[in-house]
Amino acid sequence: MALGFSGEVADFYHRYRRGYPAEVFDALVEVFGLTADDVAVDLGCGTGQVTVPLAARVRAVVGVDPEPDMLAHARRAAEEGGAANIAWVVGTDADVPALRGVLGDGSVGVVTIGQALHWMRHDDLFRAVSSLVRPGGGVAVLTNGTPLWQQGSDWSRALRGCLEEWLGTPSGHACGTDEESRNRYRTSLAAAGFEVRTHEVRYRGTLDLESVVGGVLSALPVDRLPPPPDRAAFTDRVRHAIEPHAPFIEDVRVTALTGRANSTN
Ligand SMILES: C[S@@+](CC[C@H](N)C(=O)[O-])C[C@H]1O[C@@H](n2cnc3c(N)ncnc32)[C@H](O)[C@@H]1O
Repeated sequence: MALGFSGEVADFYHRYRRGYPAEVFDALVEVFGLTADDVAVDLGCGTGQVTVPLAARVRAVVGVDPEPDMLAHARRAAEEGGAANIAWVVGTDADVPALRGVLGDGSVGVVTIGQALHWMRHDDLFRAVSSLVRPGGGVAVLTNGTPLWQQGSDWSRALRGCLEEWLGTPSGHACGTDEESRNRYRTSLAAAGFEVRTHEVRYRGTLDLESVVGGVLSALPVDRLPPPPDRAAFTDRVRHAIEPHAPFIEDVRVTALTGRANSTN
């Protein structure tokens, strides 16, 4: 499967994507009553932004992702962070029914999906997850801010224009971070029998030019990256477009949509 998260994109993702605030993990512990006895599954784990901090709060985590280059970064991040309780698995949402066989129905405290649900068949997934999780456990759909070129600020608008010119296509995809997607996920979670809640953490950050360029490169499919000889010109184009709008302030809205399984299942 070629999704575009390989090679340099995995490197950029690891280097430039922000982690999630601790409050998000606190909310998961509270909603699902997670303890040091629990097992978690992080689906679409990428370079481990959710997996590694989650591992500090449960007994073990299974990090699942179809892209070996993303998993290689995640494994290194876990080793560097001293997390020895994570099993890394090459796989997709389509493997969740098989995971039920491996781990056992009712065995999992939480299945997390960070910025990855838009790649998955969420209706089928939520149904499969409802059998995998223990009573009172559930599923958490996380988003970590709006794509850099889709925000309401002047620098973001300028970045959007610059990318559309460079790539020759409108940059419309919100990657599941928009309210319309969240509403679809809410409906789907409720239809699978979960009790749905929304949690939100907001904070303000300031980016430098390198983080803006790195963030953009981490979000392009690998076959659309500017080739290495064109990178300096690409950076110059972005600088030229956004510099008049410095500082590059980002109001980050992190959301967790939680679906809790009935505690008397
Ligand atoms: C934008 S990254 C998110 C990484 C991390 N979870 C985070 O929150 O930052 C999306 C990840 O989903 C993975 N992915 C894509 N399709 C998938 C699928 N069908 N099942 C599981 N993971 C998938 C990609 O390989 C990629 O690593």
